[in-house]
Amino acid sequence: MGMIRTLRAVVRLRRPEGDRTARRLRGAANVDDLRNIARRRLPAGVFDYIDGGAEDELTLDRNVRAFRETTFRPRVLRGLDELDTSTTLLGRPLAFPLVLAPTGFTRIADPAGELAVVRAAGRAGIPFTLSTMGTRSIDECAAVAGPGARLWFQVYAWRDRDLIRAMLDRAAAAGFEAICLTVDTAMLGRRERDVRRGMTLPPEIGPGTFFDGMRRPGWTWRFLRSDPIRFANVEREAAGPADGDEGAPGTGERAVDLAAYMNAQFDHGLSWDDVAWLRTVWDGPILVKGIQSVADAVLAVEHGVEGIILSNHGGRQLDTAPAPFDLVPAVAEAVAGSGANGGVDRIEVICDGGIRRGSDIVKAVAAGADATMGGRLFLYALAAAGERGVDHVLELLRSGTERTMALVGAATVDELGSDLLESR
Ligand code: GLV
Repeated sequence: MGMIRTLRAVVRLRRPEGDRTARRLRGAANVDDLRNIARRRLPAGVFDYIDGGAEDELTLDRNVRAFRETTFRPRVLRGLDELDTSTTLLGRPLAFPLVLAPTGFTRIADPAGELAVVRAAGRAGIPFTLSTMGTRSIDECAAVAGPGARLWFQVYAWRDRDLIRAMLDRAAAAGFEAICLTVDTAMLGRRERDVRRGMTLPPEIGPGTFFDGMRRPGWTWRFLRSDPIRFANVEREAAGPADGDEGAPGTGERAVDLAAYMNAQFDHGLSWDDVAWLRTVWDGPILVKGIQSVADAVLAVEHGVEGIILSNHGGRQLDTAPAPFDLVPAVAEAVAGSGANGGVDRIEVICDGGIRRGSDIVKAVAAGADATMGGRLFLYALAAAGERGVDHVLELLRSGTERTMALVGAATVDELGSDLLESR
C-alpha cells in the first residue's frame, strides 16, 4: 500500500497540455524536430523550397557538418557566477549572438509570415532582417515591431536602382537600422528539388502541378483563407515580367518560375562601385552578405562597410562553396583591427548558415565571429507552430547558447575564444 502510494507520487500523470500547438511544441526538443514537424505540415513542394539547396546539396550539408565536426576543449571549475549570453552588434545590444536572416516568401511557411518573426525576434532581443523578396512590407513589419526591436533590410542588386532607392527611403523612414547587400546571387542557384517539382511562386494549387496541397489540408486552408502572397516590397511597375508574358509575382496575378524571374531582375554587373553607390542612398550601417573568401572580406573592409556576413545563401547558390564556419578564423584574423574607427573597432563578422543549436552559435563566436545568422531555423519553426514556434526555437537557441557557455567554462561572450575549440 505504502509502496503504491510512493509510486503514484513518482509516476504522476502529466496534466494534459492546454492546446494542440503546445503539445506539438513540447515534442520539439531541437531544430531537427521542428523540421520534421514542418515536413509533415507543409506541401512537399513548399517544404523542399525551404529545405533544399543547390545542385548536389553538398554545401547545404557541409554548412551543418562543419559545426558537428568541431569539438570543444572545455574548461571546468571556472567559478561561473553569472552567465551572460548578451553582447553588442553594430554598437547595440544583442540578447545572444544570433540575427534572423532574410528569407523570401516567408508567408508560404505560415500566413503570419514576417510579422510573426518580427514580433518573436523583438521578444528575444535579436534583429530580424526583412528580405527584398519578403511577403510583408517594410511598413507592415515596422508597425508590429515593439520598442527596442531591431530591423534590418536586405537588398538585392535589382536592375532598377530607383526601386532600391525607394525601398531604402521607406526603410529609413520606418526606423530600419541597417541594410545587407546580398552579393552571392549573380544568378540564381539551381535548386533541383524545385526544378523536379516544377515549383512556382506563389505556389499553385490544382491540376497540372506537382503540388500536393490537398494532402495538407491545414496548410491549404490557411493559405487559401489569407490574403494573397505577394512581394510586398517590390512595386508592381518595377517588378515587370521577365519575358513579357508572365505576370510578376508582386502583382499576385500569376505564379512564375522563380529562377527566370529573379535572373531577369538581378543586375549581373554588380561590383564594389555599387557599394559606394549604396552609401549615397543609405545613411546607416551597410553589411555585405555572401562573402565567401578572405580576399573579399579584406576588400569589404577597404570599401568601408560596417559588417560582412560570411554566407553561401544557405547552400542555395554555388554548390561546393565553403562552409561559412570554416572561413571564420582566417577572415577574423584578416580583418582584425581594421574597422572604420581608426582601426580600433574591426568590422562585424557574421557567420550565416548551418546554425541548428546554441552550441553552433558558441563555436562560431569562439572561432572569431561577432554573431551568427540563420534562416531555415525559424522557417521550420514557423511552419511547425506559427509565431509560438518561432518563440520556441529562439528560446531553444538562447538557452542552448547559455548552457554551452556554462559547459565550456565561459561566463560571458567575451570569454569565448579559439582556445575553447579543438581544431578538427
Ligand atoms: C531566395 O533568395 C532564395 O534563396 O530562395
